[in-house]
Parts: sequence; C-alpha cells; structure tokens
Amino acid sequence: MLQNNPVYPVIWRNNFVSLIDQTRLPYEYSYVEIHRSEDMAQAIKTMIVRGAPAIGVAAAYGMYLGAREIETSDRHKFLKALEQVAQMLRETRPTAVNLFWAISRMLKTAYESIGTVEEIRKTLLETAKTINAEDLQTCHKIGDNGLKALPETPEKLTLLTHCNAGALATAGYGTALGIVRSAFREGRLEKVFADETRPRLQGAKLTTWECVQEGIPVTLITDSMAAHCMKQNMIDAVVVGADRIAANGDAANKIGTYSLALVAKAHNVPFFVAAPLSTVDFSLADGSEIPIEERNPKEIYQVGETIIAPEGIDYYNPSFDVTPAELIAAIITEEGVFAPGDLKKYQNKQMA
Ligand code: MRU
Repeated sequence: MLQNNPVYPVIWRNNFVSLIDQTRLPYEYSYVEIHRSEDMAQAIKTMIVRGAPAIGVAAAYGMYLGAREIETSDRHKFLKALEQVAQMLRETRPTAVNLFWAISRMLKTAYESIGTVEEIRKTLLETAKTINAEDLQTCHKIGDNGLKALPETPEKLTLLTHCNAGALATAGYGTALGIVRSAFREGRLEKVFADETRPRLQGAKLTTWECVQEGIPVTLITDSMAAHCMKQNMIDAVVVGADRIAANGDAANKIGTYSLALVAKAHNVPFFVAAPLSTVDFSLADGSEIPIEERNPKEIYQVGETIIAPEGIDYYNPSFDVTPAELIAAIITEEGVFAPGDLKKYQNKQMA
C-alpha cells in the first residue's frame, strides 16, 4: 500500500512500540508491535528498524520496555537490572553510536531520577519520547542547513545519495534525504540518484520508496555506476548520512560510501555528510577506532532464494566503511555546517 503521509519508523502507541518493518519494504508497508525489550533488541539486530538515529530512538523505547519488565520496587535492584537491559540492547549492532548514546542518556536519566521506581519508569518513558521528538526536529534543521551548503549553481541540482539516510533511518524526515527533501520543497532539486547499496539494498528498496511517497524524482543506479555518472557531469553533489563520526571528522557510513567519496574527489564533486551531533563520537580521535560491523556472509552470496557463488570460497562482509575527513567537503548538523576539522573546536566551545 502506498501512502502520502510522513513516514515515522518508530511510534509509541500508549503502551507498546510500532516499528515499520523495513525488511518488507517496498513490497509491503506494515508494522511490527514491540511489547518487550528483548523483542526490541531482536528488531534492531535483524534490521526491522535500522539507520543510526532510528536505532537510537528504538533503543530508548527498548530501555523503557525493559524498565517496565523489572519486578522490584527497590531502587538499587532496579538500576542493576536496568544495566542488564542496557547491555542486551548495546549488543545488537556495534557501529552506529546513536544506539550507545541513547542508552547512556536513558541510564543517566534513571540514575539521576529521585523518587520511587514507578516514578523512574515514568521519567524514562518521557525521556524516550523526548529523544524521539528531538531527533525529528534535528532532522528538519539538518535538511534546512543543508540548503546553505549545497552548490549555488545550477539552480536545480542533481544529488546522489547512498544507502538510506531518510525518514526510515531516523525519527522522520531524514538526514541526507532530509536535505534532498528540503531542496525539493524549495524548488532546488532536479532529481536524486539513489545507489542501490549492495548487499542489503537500502538504496533500491528504501530510499526510492521514500521518494515515491512524496513524488521526489529519483533515479536508481547500481553502486558501480556512480563514477560513470560523475564523469558524465550528471551529479552536482553527493549527500550521505553517517553512523559514527570521529572527533577529527572521519565518518563511518554504509559500505561503499568511502569509494563514493574517492570518486567524488576525482571528479570535483562536493561530498557532504549529514548527521545529528549525537552521531559524533568525540571519544574517538579518528576513524580507525570506529568498530565496523561484519554481517552474515549470506547477504553477499545469496540473492533472494538463489546462491550466486560456488561452494568452498571465503567471504568478507563488512557493513560499514570509514571516509577520511579530507574527502568530506562539510558535515551538516542541526547546529550548522562544519568543516570536518572544526567539530572538535565546536565541542571545546560548548564545554568552555
Ligand atoms: O545498516 P543500516 O541500514 O543501519 O545502515 C544505515 C546507514 O549506513 C545510514 O546511512 C546511516 O545510519 C545514516 S542514517 C540517517
């Protein structure tokens, strides 16, 4: 079923969470009901919900669901059990820092709450809702800030994006695709090229689906076609999201992003990373320290029901790569547009 309403992948429904089942798009637009923290962990692991900010929001609700399951009124025992819920959620996916950021924020809320266990639970639910609402607002700001960073000419831009950094990957609206949305709204978009994004095909399945919902002109290409398109002067700028950005501006994003950045550099096409500041991990000096998730090799040797490679070979299936800061023209955040090297200065100013 197609729809024209805004897409919200994580919705709080009074006493449970609805997740858009992203593993079934674009064939089927359906929701999965999540009532228990364990089911939330499983949904993150199996990518029913995916995308850095979206899994942060989902994990925040997962923490509340876990808090609800803990049967004690003793504060100390409650906090100890909540730490276990946090650990279970942390073990779902390693790269996107928003997951860890949201879990830490929820734990901090619990520890700082005074009052009964029941009151702490209520505060946790409010905090999860706040994380959700803030992310939506943040994405709108990123989208609009992106307009200031994009090239001034031509008037109507052709952008290229990788993976899905859209409404489905956030609380709504998206980061990189938020910029595409804002450009479309302002009449500055000719079209967006979506890389298919092997092996999970988030570009082909999710980014194109989101564009279709809103009538945004989109052209699907395979990942290996990007260089050719740039050589033909078909692309004015590249916009991608990020799963974790180190203090020096190195940015981890979906596998294939790094090669796209190299190709963009070779063709003088500006390469932008769009992300909320919650994606910046200031504890990491550079991208070499970012943990890279490796996923099931089945993702690369099996297409649909068909095994596409001979038996007896090795596989390597890293899900993310790190684009060095020097290939990034700017990092677009809710607080403005930063040269990659200026993130640290911003943080120092905030802490002063
Ligand atoms: O494996 P996924 O689908 O969770 O990877 C998602 C991405 O790499 C996105 O580009 C990133 O999370 C940014 S989302 C706004």
